[in-house]
Amino acid sequence: MNAALRPALRADSWPDDTLSPEHSRLMPSGNRMPLMGLGTLRLSVHTVQTVGHAFEAGFRMVDTSPDFHTQRGVGDAIRACGFDRDDIFVISKVEASADSYAALHKNLGQLRLKYVDLVLIHGSRGGDVDELAWHGLRRAKRDGLAHDIGVCNYAIDSIEELVYRTGEMPAVNQIEWSPFGHSPRMLDFCRDNDIVIQASSPLTRATRLNDDKVGTMAARYGKTPAQLLIRWNLQQGVVPLPKANHEQHLRENLNVFDFDIAPQDMLRLNGLNEHFSASARLEYI
Ligand SMILES: NC(=O)c1ccc[n+]([C@@H]2O[C@H](COP(=O)([O-])OP(=O)(O)OC[C@H]3O[C@@H](n4cnc5c(N)ncnc54)[C@H](OP(=O)(O)O)[C@@H]3O)[C@@H](O)[C@H]2O)c1
Repeated sequence: MNAALRPALRADSWPDDTLSPEHSRLMPSGNRMPLMGLGTLRLSVHTVQTVGHAFEAGFRMVDTSPDFHTQRGVGDAIRACGFDRDDIFVISKVEASADSYAALHKNLGQLRLKYVDLVLIHGSRGGDVDELAWHGLRRAKRDGLAHDIGVCNYAIDSIEELVYRTGEMPAVNQIEWSPFGHSPRMLDFCRDNDIVIQASSPLTRATRLNDDKVGTMAARYGKTPAQLLIRWNLQQGVVPLPKANHEQHLRENLNVFDFDIAPQDMLRLNGLNEHFSASARLEYI
């Protein structure tokens, strides 16, 4: 990475962040991003109701996308919840295409919002670098349609290539991240370059919540496996986006700010890495 392209580390970025529900991350725009958010892939058809329950439980960030078919419901839930628009952090996505500016416009139409807090290029296969799409998002940012811009599923090489070609670092890389599938190299790279990792499928789509080691460790802390996995993300400075339809799950997933995973247990959880992916493969490895 060309050192000149690296933004200076911001004063209150990881690892100095305090882990509390009220705390947030400072973004390049000066906007603040909550430490965790609600995923909405395969959310119930009752999106407005479920997102409303999530707001009641304490969530203040929602991850949506046209292909999740939740944008209308998320927008309606925001209008119905009684909070100011500024109090909710909305993430949307555009497919890698030259017309990302128009795609974001369309998303805003579905959300019926004037701006999103973060818009991401929805990359796949490690993130084929799409310079034109990135320029479209940069323009959207300049025009106030998005506060910050980032990518999904980008490998380190793709991020470096994007920055080399355009001179602008993504604020976020949204990638699958759990003890069973993660990358120490990516974590170091993102820390060094002040890129926030947002964890998609942080609960492995519930496929590994019955793992014996996780269950035993979680019980030792008086927590559930889901809470242990979410806390493991938070303690690395990674921003998890657990999806939950059930109200009990929504509340449980936020109840992760009253315990610390000890360093040796963090290492044990790191040791579960097998590059597992809930969506067939880890695209950024
Ligand atoms: N950018 C991308 O390419 C991409 C790809 C995948 C995902 N994502 C984002 O990441 C979000 C999260 O990933 P995901 O939806 O794939 O899966 P996930 O959050 O890892 O897992 C969701 C599953 O976990 C269950 N669950 C939630 N809380 C639980 C708890 N406390 N105890 C037990 N089970 C619990 C849910 O059940 P219930 O629903 O029944 O409560 C659901 O079955 C997505 O919704 C999406 O916003 C982005």
